[in-house]
Parts: sequence; structure tokens; C-alpha cells
Amino acid sequence: MNENPLYNPYSLKGKTVLITGASSGIGRATAVACSKMGANVVITGRNIERLHQTYEQLDAIATHYQYAGDLTRQEDLERLVEEVPVLDGLVNNAGISYTKPIGFLKPDDIRRVYEANLYAPMLLTNNLLKKKKIAKGASVVFMSSTAAFGCSNANSTYGTSKAALSDFMHYCNKEITPVRHIRFNAIHPGMVRTELVANLTFTEEELQKDMARYPLGRYGEPVDIANAVVFLLSDASSWISGVSLIVDGGLMNRV
Ligand SMILES: NC(=O)c1ccc[n+]([C@@H]2O[C@H](COP(=O)([O-])OP(=O)(O)OC[C@H]3O[C@@H](n4cnc5c(N)ncnc54)[C@H](OP(=O)(O)O)[C@@H]3O)[C@@H](O)[C@H]2O)c1
Repeated sequence: MNENPLYNPYSLKGKTVLITGASSGIGRATAVACSKMGANVVITGRNIERLHQTYEQLDAIATHYQYAGDLTRQEDLERLVEEVPVLDGLVNNAGISYTKPIGFLKPDDIRRVYEANLYAPMLLTNNLLKKKKIAKGASVVFMSSTAAFGCSNANSTYGTSKAALSDFMHYCNKEITPVRHIRFNAIHPGMVRTELVANLTFTEEELQKDMARYPLGRYGEPVDIANAVVFLLSDASSWISGVSLIVDGGLMNRV
């Protein structure tokens, strides 16, 4: 049987996709993967130099844009919404990690994590919808975490911010999808080797022990998550909305 080289339901050719947190880790890998699949990519992050490094790695087959800004600052968020073209895809990926036992938490700890992980993606989505910057038929992906299911230590602030984010996805699917035919889904990665993980205070021995819990025997790589995002942005998933996709090397099945 001959394969048809033109058949590719995962192609993002002709689509314009905004990826937040694209200056690093999962966001960078997602931006690169989307550009390889033919998308026009709009990348954003706070660190201009690292954002530009991502920009340099994008496949040059389409047109790309970069906007530096802190999405917890209203003026930066509004400027981004004004400047982006109409989107066929939005990846709410930017986020920060935080571990502290419940008894030691301070109000500012909770506020800071919620502002980055929950308020910013909620407000970005809400502002883009208000300004009609998300096209009919578009796909929106929220980057949640397996921590949303309450399965990691001293992670209540981060985990609850991610649980609320995936809950917001379900509300979008209920309220917006029937009216605008925009799809909303969440991805819940297990541990992925990025700076976010490098910043956690685990020893190498603790990391090795933790990794042994994963049925597939390793932590994820950013590209493992990027490929799942490509699927959810592409027409291959055009009847999938309101789904929490766990991408974790089989870990949750074992918990
Ligand atoms: N790595 C994991 O194991 C893992 C597991 C589950 C879920 N996740 C989620 O996946 C997403 C990406 O994580 P990662 O591991 O790739 O982390 P990362 O390498 O630390 O990257 C985080 C990205 O978010 C951006 N960012 C953070 N706060 C921001 C703000 N206020 N405004 C704008 N941009 C902001 C950062 O921008 P700058 O660098 O420019 O400041 C950076 O581009 C996060 O939402 C994270 O919670 C990660």
C-alpha cells in the first residue's frame, strides 16, 4: 500500500498559534514543534534574551512574532491582546512552580503562584475572547499538571492552582464551545526535565528514586509534551474538547 505524502491531519499549516512561556522548557519545545508543523507562531515570555533564543530556533517556513511581557501585569497582558493577530490556537503554558508545606504558607506565596498559574491564563483567554482574537474552530490548550490531582508532596499551592486551571477549561468548554465552536482542553504533564524542575530542591538521589515510580522509566522531555500540544491544536483532534489529557509516562495509572 502506498502512503499519501500529502495526508497529515496533524499539520498546523496556515494556523496562527500563541504560546505563552515560550522562552523556556515546554513552551520553547512547543513553539519549535508548532513551527515545524507549519504554524505561524506567536511567542511570549518575560526574559527577552531567552525569548529571542526560542525565536531563532523556529522553523522558517512560516511567519513568527515575539512579544516580551509579564502576564501577571495587566498592561503587558492588554498590550499582547491588542497586538496579536486572530488566533487559531492558544497555548496557556506559562507558569511557576512552588513547594512549601501547608503549615508554612504565607498569603503572598499563594497570591504569587495563583497570579501566574491561574489568573494570568484565565484573564488572557477572557481578554482574547472579548476582543474576538480567537477564531471560530480554534483550539485552546491549558498546561495543567498531574499535581492537580493531589499526588505530590508539599505542593498544595501549585497543585490547587493547576486544578483550578483545568476546572476553568471545563467551564470554557461548557460556556464558550457551544457558541463559538472553540475547543478547550488541558494537558497534565508528569515530571518533565526543564528549569522548573531544576529549581526544585531535590537531590539527584531523590530524583532517581522518584523517576523509578514512572512505568516508562524516565521523566518526560519537553518534546513529549509539545507533541501532545500539536495533536490538540491540529485538526486530528477536531472532535475533542473538554478533555484532561494526562501525559506522564504511565505514572497516574499506578498511583
Ligand atoms: N516541568 C514539569 O515537570 C512540569 C510538570 C507539569 C506541568 N508543568 C507546567 O508546564 C508549564 C511550563 O513549565 P516548564 O517546566 O517549561 O517551566 P520553565 O522552563 O520554568 O518555563 C516557564 C515559562 O513560563 C514563563 N513565565 C512564568 N511566569 C510568567 C509570567 N508572570 N509572565 C509571563 N511568562 C511567565 C517563563 O518566562 P521567563 O523564563 O521569560 O521568565 C518561562 O517561559 C508550566 O505551566 C508548568 O507549571 C511543568
